[in-house]
Amino acid sequence: VLRLRAATDESWAARAVGNLEGVLVDHAHCELKAASNALSMAARHADDPAVVRVLTSLAHEEIEHFQAVNAHLEARGIRLGNPPTDPYVAALRRAHLTVGPSPVAGVVAGAVDRLLICALIEARSCERFALLAKALVPVDAALSAFYADLRAAEARHYRTFIDLAVHTSAGNEAAVFQRLEALSTAEGQIVLGRAGQAVDATIHG
Ligand SMILES: [Fe+2]
Ligand SMILES: [Fe+2]
Repeated sequence: VLRLRAATDESWAARAVGNLEGVLVDHAHCELKAASNALSMAARHADDPAVVRVLTSLAHEEIEHFQAVNAHLEARGIRLGNPPTDPYVAALRRAHLTVGPSPVAGVVAGAVDRLLICALIEARSCERFALLAKALVPVDAALSAFYADLRAAEARHYRTFIDLAVHTSAGNEAAVFQRLEALSTAEGQIVLGRAGQAVDATIHG
């Protein structure tokens, strides 16, 4: 179960389908960032072979996602271009500063926060892909099926990051889930604050 506090605004899917080229470009960059983020997190956890194994596998899968989205771009003659800004992710990466001290004890608290923020980004992407898959059914059946597959992958990645956070906290599941609730509340406020703001929909906009 995804622990999202706020549902995406109803108008989002229609706006996304109306700006499909922009959404595909934004999405391709999201996958590329997910891959490079997983690799830089693997480097931060270099002392823990289990974490390195999981995160490098995840990076590998995110590269495959990127290549699949990029193939859709190429088939449509759309240039990848420079990455659009992602104010959602930027705000979420600052959320740990505003939600108070972590119940996770010790030096691993920061690492747990970073893993939980990754989990929430996966959860929100998962929700958005499900909405996109549904809205694309009458428009483009193949692209709809593509997003349904990716939805399942992102749900799995959400779980992976939660498991890594619990592992990093040395099994302090209660504290990790308490922190997840706090960060999830902040994530919901970011999403509600951005609802209706964006003229063109993006994956996290
Ligand atoms: Fe992905
Ligand atoms: Fe992912």
